[in-house]
Amino acid sequence: MTTSSTLPTPSNPGPFGHKQRKNFFFPEGKTEFNHGSYGTFTRSVKENMMKWHDRAEQNPDRWVRLELKPALRKVRSQLAEFMNCDTDELALVQNTTTGVNTVLRSLKFLPGDRILQLSTGYISIVKTAQYIHDTHENVEIVEVPVVMPMSDQEIVFSVEKAVQDHIAKKDGSRIRLAIIDWISSMPAIVHPVKPLIDMLQSYGIQVLIDGAHVIGQLPIDLKFLNADFFITNCHKWLYSVRGSAVLYVPKRYQNMIHPTAIQGNYQGGFELEFSWKGTMDYSTMLSIEGALEFRKQYGEKAIMNYNHKLAVQGGKIMAEILGTNVLSPYEHQVGYMFNVRLPIKNINHPKIQTEDYLVRHLLDKYNLFSPSFMHGGCFWTRVSSQIYLELDDFVHLGNVWKEVIDELNAETEY
Ligand SMILES: Cc1ncc(COP(=O)(O)O)c(C=O)c1O
Repeated sequence: MTTSSTLPTPSNPGPFGHKQRKNFFFPEGKTEFNHGSYGTFTRSVKENMMKWHDRAEQNPDRWVRLELKPALRKVRSQLAEFMNCDTDELALVQNTTTGVNTVLRSLKFLPGDRILQLSTGYISIVKTAQYIHDTHENVEIVEVPVVMPMSDQEIVFSVEKAVQDHIAKKDGSRIRLAIIDWISSMPAIVHPVKPLIDMLQSYGIQVLIDGAHVIGQLPIDLKFLNADFFITNCHKWLYSVRGSAVLYVPKRYQNMIHPTAIQGNYQGGFELEFSWKGTMDYSTMLSIEGALEFRKQYGEKAIMNYNHKLAVQGGKIMAEILGTNVLSPYEHQVGYMFNVRLPIKNINHPKIQTEDYLVRHLLDKYNLFSPSFMHGGCFWTRVSSQIYLELDDFVHLGNVWKEVIDELNAETEY
């Protein structure tokens, strides 16, 4: 990712920064630092969603019986162009959790099958794999410990070593599937997915890429990537409404993949099965159209450069204020989110052991939030950049976290 200078300056304010606030819904005084958790959408995207919503209400039969399927197909074809794959390889689903469940609960795991995951995997996905373990005979999880900072080569090496160690056991089991985050949640790290996919497939292992954070954050070329399965949330970084994600299943696997909720279109083929999810509101998924339109006026490169550069510089600013460091020294492992260390002296402080304390404290006292977590024996916060933020926002967040941590450290000393 290039980092051309796109941050606003007085002489060259550019299209992004605080002037973008008017396109979003934040009230005066609310600055959003956690876009990564739930995303948010623009006013124009809401209008687009309401267009679909109104159309459904004006004539429910015409909508469901005649118009819905072509409308979903159009959005899928726009996404296919965006991610370089065939329209027929894409299915719209509600979220990444559903997409991963769709794949894991469709595949027929046999006794002796193993599922490989990284220790940094997202909790819902880890639990879904655990569910497969719990409901199948002799299906186990192989977890690869990942403690950042690690270079891309070290990550690939660790995963390959886990595969080789497993093979060396010669216990009759085989790693059937690997689930790899493209961008992990906490810590937020961009992983070397292409080398991981190539390496894992060379051992005959299928690869499911959890790309929950990817669309809208990194360029995607699914033909080049050649993953066996890929899922990404559009409601995080693409700016569509929550409840919109897209699952990629290449044609070679489509006859074995079915929606998590089976309905009347069962066995009607991949497109038909995934076009009807039972009676519900499809306007959130269709709002992807509005999100793509909003982005087009600036171009993907401009959005990506701005957010990446803001994340890299924001991380440096906050680390300086806190007297600490960002987790990854490699800029290419940073997308739009960075992890900065919080200088807590006592990591067993009861208040940081219950996340609710910090959630309430940050929201109630400061009207802002960035999630915190333990990794590698240290305490970190994950911060999201976004086109409505500027560098001085990170100065503010850094000062708030400094005050919070200073207070906790004073309590510890007392
Ligand atoms: C890496 C990763 N995978 C999966 C998910 C689950 O996404 P959703 O809650 O939209 O299903 C998240 C959510 O933040 C995530 O960060």
